Amino acid sequence: MQVPTITVGCGLVQGVDAVPVQVEATARHAGDGTPRLLGLVDACVREAYHRVLQAFFALDLPPPRGVTTVNFAPAELRKHGSGFDLPLALALAGAAGLFPPERSRGLFAFGEVSLRGEILPARGAVSVALAAAQNGAQAMLCSPADASLCAAVDGLPLYGAATLADAVFWLAGRRELQPPPPRPPAPPDAVADLADLRGHQTPKRALAVAAAGGHNLLFVGPPGSGKSALLRRLPGILPPLGPRERLAVLQAHAAAGLSLPGERRPLRAPHHTSSAASVLGGGADVRPGEVTLAHHGVLFLDELPEFRRDVLEALRQPLEDATITVGRARQTVTMPAQFLLVAAMNPCPCGFRGHRQRPCACTPGAVARYRQRLSGPLLDRLDLQVEVPALTAAELRAPEDPAAGTAALRERVLAAHARQLRRQTFDGVFTPNGRLVDRMLLRACACTEAALAGVDEVMRRCQQSARGRVRLLRLARTLADLDDRDQVDDVDVLEAANLRGFAPAGALA
Ligand SMILES: Nc1ncnc2c1ncn2[C@@H]1O[C@H](COP(=O)(O)OP(=O)(O)OP(=O)(O)O)[C@@H](O)[C@H]1O
Ligand SMILES: [Mg+2]
Ligand SMILES: [Zn+2]
Repeated sequence: MQVPTITVGCGLVQGVDAVPVQVEATARHAGDGTPRLLGLVDACVREAYHRVLQAFFALDLPPPRGVTTVNFAPAELRKHGSGFDLPLALALAGAAGLFPPERSRGLFAFGEVSLRGEILPARGAVSVALAAAQNGAQAMLCSPADASLCAAVDGLPLYGAATLADAVFWLAGRRELQPPPPRPPAPPDAVADLADLRGHQTPKRALAVAAAGGHNLLFVGPPGSGKSALLRRLPGILPPLGPRERLAVLQAHAAAGLSLPGERRPLRAPHHTSSAASVLGGGADVRPGEVTLAHHGVLFLDELPEFRRDVLEALRQPLEDATITVGRARQTVTMPAQFLLVAAMNPCPCGFRGHRQRPCACTPGAVARYRQRLSGPLLDRLDLQVEVPALTAAELRAPEDPAAGTAALRERVLAAHARQLRRQTFDGVFTPNGRLVDRMLLRACACTEAALAGVDEVMRRCQQSARGRVRLLRLARTLADLDDRDQVDDVDVLEAANLRGFAPAGALA
């Protein structure tokens, strides 16, 4: 039986999204040689034909003779990635008459095919499944592992096939495929307890505020004062991911070829020597970078001034819009990047400026040059700027304070987060306090008269712009939420100004 033309759906993964692609194979003018692959396929996809052919032989499937042409549409997009192996194999099998053509109607397929005919996971399966669901696909066929991974995508029947033979025989109606087993929840990674760290009331308060309201945070302090130790403990107090957020995190990780790290919000901590492409995303096939892997989670930049200047400047877009746009030769790709930025730095190159015991050895010029690595607009977006001082021997000997431990802080953070969820979720989209703007900010920030007077006073004293005012109000809103109050009062505003580093003894004063 020869079938003129058969079509199998697939997706081209760009960034974290997939563009639907139709793989069409035809045997209309029976030929004997290698079929022509049309539609701007790159070397990897061209090799796929030979890989797939070996899989037919290895599995004793009848080889797809007589197929003259395979077309990948739309033609103007360059097709890359190993996920096209499976739709190509199925289109060849269908055109060679191995299953009735109507069986592949509305079918999407995605996966790499090995020489032995196994179907393997491919990068970006979740994105393809979402594209399939949005385009009204009837089903998606992929590796068993990818089928389990994609089970979170609503409204799309998924079938995992271990081998190309399983897939072809299923389409021929001669074999059943089992629905994917649910993925066992990943065990949470162990996060050390904040109670391990003595003292540091204000830095711990700042951590709770950052976690509760999604306010970007900078810790400034001498070497060994506990900045990194504090920030590493942040995941323990973060609110859990909502279902939509979980799916978005899963999609971003799958598009980078990573599995989801656990049930917690992700924390990404790229090294300060990281390239722009690894932090922001990019490469020939536009993979998500650290800012996208930190979507709905935390981006932790330790030793902030040591990062490349172009990387730091490029963070302004995601901090403002929650997205990152990466340019390529003829095309730009936009990826989600709504992260909480937390960072640590020393106050000066030697690290001891403002220290209670040790003198600073830096010249004023050296201090200025160090600070200048961080531009004003970036510092402006770090809502919380808090000093982490060196502790004395006596302070370090203090007994553990359970009230400042992870469990206690987490409880308050969750309650404050729940208040925001109730107040600031519209059409299923939630905006944390740290991202409130315009009308939503006005609606959320009911202030007492004294609070408004306090805001005016801080604005005047610290010569703040309208943007500074917005940032102050957002912070004060979170402080009131942590205290379970509907109205922002003047004490919230004062504390917000202090945590913002507006006070005369601010962290970077
Ligand atoms: N408040 C504290 N209580 C108990 N131990 C602490 C405290 N602060 C820091 N430590 C311990 O000191 C060690 C050094 O702290 P950490 O690495 O966080 O310093 P840092 O401020 O990041 O220094 P650097 O500027 O050199 O990066 C940590 O392993 C931590 O266990
Ligand atoms: Mg450190
Ligand atoms: Zn110094």
